[in-house]
Amino acid sequence: MKLAIIGTGYVGLVTGTCLAEIGNDVICADNDSRKIEVLNDGGMPIYEPGLKELIAKNRTEGRLSFSTDIGEAVRVSDIVFICVGTPSREDGSADLTAIEKVSQAIAGSINSYKLIVEKSTVPVETGEWVKRTIHTFKKEETDFDVASNPEFLREGSALDDFMHPDRVVIGVESERAEKMLRELYEPLNTKIVVTNIEGAEIIKHASNSFLATKISFINALSNICEKAGADVDAVAEGIGLDKRINTHFLKAGIGFGGSCFPKDVKAFIHISEKLGCPFNLLKEVERINEMQKEIAVKKVTEMLWNIPGKVIGVWGLAFKPNTDDVRSAPAIAIIKRLQAEGAKIKVFDPEAMETAKSKLGDSVTYCSDIYETAKDSDCIILMTEWDVFKEVDWNKIKDAMKQPALMDGRNLYDPDELKNLGFKYAGMGREV
Ligand code: UGA
Repeated sequence: MKLAIIGTGYVGLVTGTCLAEIGNDVICADNDSRKIEVLNDGGMPIYEPGLKELIAKNRTEGRLSFSTDIGEAVRVSDIVFICVGTPSREDGSADLTAIEKVSQAIAGSINSYKLIVEKSTVPVETGEWVKRTIHTFKKEETDFDVASNPEFLREGSALDDFMHPDRVVIGVESERAEKMLRELYEPLNTKIVVTNIEGAEIIKHASNSFLATKISFINALSNICEKAGADVDAVAEGIGLDKRINTHFLKAGIGFGGSCFPKDVKAFIHISEKLGCPFNLLKEVERINEMQKEIAVKKVTEMLWNIPGKVIGVWGLAFKPNTDDVRSAPAIAIIKRLQAEGAKIKVFDPEAMETAKSKLGDSVTYCSDIYETAKDSDCIILMTEWDVFKEVDWNKIKDAMKQPALMDGRNLYDPDELKNLGFKYAGMGREV
């Protein structure tokens, strides 16, 4: 099939590349000429393991191209995917101006039947607006359908998630649209859930909100475990081995971040209020997530007595491992709070140093490895559980530090081992 992907951000690039890989002719279009230039030169605007190589392969094999000409991409395609950003507004609602702009651009270029698919995460009711916009602005008398096909890709494992999904969700209003999308996803050989557009839009928000709820549940529980003298990881295993609960997304820590959970939980709260059914449970999910960062700061303060003038080494800036993404990363928020209290911060992350510069500027010292970060530090905080942080020569770290203290924000280390080596240790929801 011939496909146009509008928007070459994270979702658009992964979706377009993977759809090319399963045999489609794909044009990824974006009005950001700089981004398209980078892609056409073989560069990458984002970091995602394996994506660069898969893009190169599909370009060489002639199934994938990049263009700034959105109109032309629409004209030559059967299916047009909308993959533009839907950031949070001040009030928590999703900013849908990019979706409207792209809908108008698509309408201006429709020359024959097109299936227009929302891939961006949008609140329920957006499909209806896209439909209305295309009706209003289309210049030629031609049929079209709108569908919703949310993505469930995790940064860092997006290619594998695309190729081996648990399910594909399609929200459609016509048999023609259903048939086209079924055919498109057939090579993935997976369960396809078919619903109306509203159902698919809600599935996306509800999936992310449910996962965020699991994380806040275990984080709230971690604080109870700590006070009661239990270990939250053992408790999580004990509850998670019940198949109805399962062990995924039950890892306690400094909270969830990224470009999806915080934004989607907010947008779901907002749309539920608009629909007259306030989803207050999700407000508590947000509150617990904020509280985890406060707790992390408090633990550091308890270890160091006074924060002003103390040097704190930070291991990990990305909101999770295997990505350079620092959007809503707990590490950034915690660093800013400690800086506000007078701490001096040294940081190291294997991939996210450049992206972090946009948030931290020159207010921190950027280091080249964990040992440099530890040098003359009063405390180390493990913020992101990258593999490189699993192999540590603790004696070398201890010798480099001013005083050996570790705040393990992801419960990565063995507390007994560290205490035996003479470290002060604090974890999240662990017996101390
Ligand atoms: C999330 C969803 O997992 C994807 O299914 C969805 O497609 C994507 O959002 C999206 O809407 O585009 P992602 O943001 O890449 O994917 O990150 P996750 O792997 O879900 O992790 C989110 C955050 O939760 C991270 O900060 C992570 O450290 C934290 N987390 C995760 C925990 O604190 N504990 C856990 O047990 C799991």
